[in-house]
Amino acid sequence: MRLYFATSNRHKLEEARRVLAQFSIDIEIAPVKKLEIQADDVVEISRAAAERLCAAYNYIVVEDDGLYIEALRGFPGPYSEYVYRTLGLSGVLKLLEGAGDRSAYFKSAVSLCIDGLVKTFVGIAKGRIAEAPRGSAGFGFDPIFIPEGFDETFAEMGVEAKSKISHRAKAFQALGEWIAGVRK
Ligand code: IMP
Repeated sequence: MRLYFATSNRHKLEEARRVLAQFSIDIEIAPVKKLEIQADDVVEISRAAAERLCAAYNYIVVEDDGLYIEALRGFPGPYSEYVYRTLGLSGVLKLLEGAGDRSAYFKSAVSLCIDGLVKTFVGIAKGRIAEAPRGSAGFGFDPIFIPEGFDETFAEMGVEAKSKISHRAKAFQALGEWIAGVRK
């Protein structure tokens, strides 16, 4: 079975591919533009994008995610992409100067459009924000996110290890399990 991922982010594709391979599902990039509504919840944003694409495509997958920092009451959350482009890693670290609590989590909402139905799968990776960027693998906030139970950032651990524990990996794992159940 083959799915089509409405993203231009090769890092996201690579993580999804590693997880879905266990279910004998292949995934490749679909060069379609996804609609991005403004909402406070990544689940709502992800579903709205999938519903829109569902009218024209089958087996399409969209993902929306965000980084939620506890000391900033969940900011930047659904605005993560904008904040990454504007404040950058250094700007986020500055906002956390002097904060005792550096805990944060990533949330991924993956929506699949299959035979006119939209199914959404959510994955959360808990962790904390590093004092300074570390590592060069991955993308986005990877150099400043240390997953729970580890000392390395996502950018230091690399894609193979990250793909076992990331928010995206968990959401795609749930998607794979759902498809495996439907296929039985
Ligand atoms: P998007 O809108 O779903 O593409 O994701 C929002 C932003 O969150 C991205 O532009 C990244 O900066 C950040 N982000 C999402 N997932 C990850 C991840 O796995 N690692 C690092 N940053 C991420």
